[in-house]
Amino acid sequence: MTTGDSLYNDLRPRLRDATKAPHHRIDHRPLMAPLVRGDLTARLYGDALLALYSFHAPSERAFAAFLNDPDAVPPPRSAWLAADLDRLGRTEITQSAIGSVWSGQPPASPSEYIGMRYVIEGGSLGARAILAPLIERLPSECKSVTRFFDGQQEERDWLNFWALAERLGPLDADATIHAATRFFGEIESLADRRWQESHGTGSASTKK
Ligand code: HEM
Repeated sequence: MTTGDSLYNDLRPRLRDATKAPHHRIDHRPLMAPLVRGDLTARLYGDALLALYSFHAPSERAFAAFLNDPDAVPPPRSAWLAADLDRLGRTEITQSAIGSVWSGQPPASPSEYIGMRYVIEGGSLGARAILAPLIERLPSECKSVTRFFDGQQEERDWLNFWALAERLGPLDADATIHAATRFFGEIESLADRRWQESHGTGSASTKK
């Protein structure tokens, strides 16, 4: 069982190591890759935001169903994504033409909850890290449409998340890591399904 300081100093590096490979694969998926390399059009930016929405919105509901505590609620990132999509004129959410969405295994224990929240909270940290180069690369009409990427302010949410993990501990480190890798795997499969839905057949990976 892992608790206290050892959560951040011991469990966090283990989570990062265990999810390194799926993280690398996800950021090279054709839906996500344009955020950091190659051409970035308004259309491609909207596709990436929609893919992010397709697992943020249902996982936020799963988190709220598991832990109905106002102090544990994650920031409303799916609402930020919806607002960005609205500004881009992408109406798939309101028209229910959004395509596949995450419908994987919800958390069944505090350890699984923290493992899955790690994927989302870490993703937000990554989003913040790429904000400045993203704004540089976005077409001019999209440069101010970055509410989602701008969401993580001064690591406050990241630190709150680890404080919550301590409150919910002691955690079973193996179960936490298993839930994080499982959730990453489900998100990868979802990204592949969405790519195939919008582009027909063909490989969903790009060259590394
Ligand atoms: C183009 C897509 C992506 C890029 C370029 C990217 C980039 C990054 C970067 C630069 C960091 C380090 C942030 C820091 O330490 O300040 C990071 C962390 C992280 N990202 Fe991503 N990311 C992408 C997509 C995703 C997605 C879709 C997820 C989740 C489904 C995700 C999950 C994570 C996690 C869990 C961490 C935290 C790792 C740790 O413990 O330090 N990322 N990402």
